[in-house]
Amino acid sequence: MSNFSSLSDTLTLNNGYKIPCVGFGTWQTPDGEVAIQSVKDAISFGYKHIDTAAIYGNEISIGKAIKESNANRNELFITSKVWNKERGYQTTLKAFEKSLNDLQLDYLDLYLIHWPAAQNQFKDWDNINLETWRAMTELYKAGKIKAIGVSNFMPHHLKSLMETEIKPMVNQIEFHVGFMQEETFKYCKDNNILVEAWSPLGTGKMLNNSTLKEIASKYNKSAAQLCIRWCLQNNTLPLPKSVTSARIKENTEVFDFVISDEDMKTINAMEYFGGSGLNPDKIDF
Ligand code: A2P
Repeated sequence: MSNFSSLSDTLTLNNGYKIPCVGFGTWQTPDGEVAIQSVKDAISFGYKHIDTAAIYGNEISIGKAIKESNANRNELFITSKVWNKERGYQTTLKAFEKSLNDLQLDYLDLYLIHWPAAQNQFKDWDNINLETWRAMTELYKAGKIKAIGVSNFMPHHLKSLMETEIKPMVNQIEFHVGFMQEETFKYCKDNNILVEAWSPLGTGKMLNNSTLKEIASKYNKSAAQLCIRWCLQNNTLPLPKSVTSARIKENTEVFDFVISDEDMKTINAMEYFGGSGLNPDKIDF
């Protein structure tokens, strides 16, 4: 995954559908002008892939930005996610229609189950996930979504889904320096599920780390660029978020350097830091 040359380069999901190698993250991007402007900036700087979710509360603005950017719909890749309160068969179908409407689109490229039903909240968590998946599968077969997947799923959450007719194509997890979720990553790799990295900059917490700054300076790059590149070289698809035009552009400049094997080893060996602390089995939302 490290021989990409631009944001238009793609990976192929396990169903054959292509996904652009870096996505523009929009978690914590405020609705309204900020979301509209930052998504328009991202598209103008070459982003082809935009990641949102119903719970981010910015789908209407993102829809406007996509319209106003005049980009070709078939050159964009748009992801959204079904929120926890909408889990289940009928509720997922309804939530999907709302996201699609809010985004002013007639199909989504990727739709994800945002979080697995948490073991500490639901006795029948596995069944809830399967019912949600049944709705996702139906929408996929109807052509309303080009690829389906999950987010924040660990191997024990994925197990039942792997026995259904349509297997997940993507698992979007928290993945950044200091938090590589090795077990989940390996499970996904073994099962041909692409791992997308949310918070590739550790929501910004990576960027003042002296080791990262030092390594980045060897390549004349910022710590942010190093972190994004590091995700690619670790075979994950990074989703960096920014609402700042100069940073949005900076985060696209990750194709003109290669982190050496030695530096990759040093970074991979860094201890846990900068994690959100959110455990999918313990969340209370
Ligand atoms: P902002 O959106 O105000 O520009 P993550 O993608 O891991 O969630 O990190 C997002 C955070 O990192 C945001 O606070 C964002 O700030 C900040 N950020 C994104 N890109 C850069 C950059 N190139 N330099 C510094 N901070 C950045």
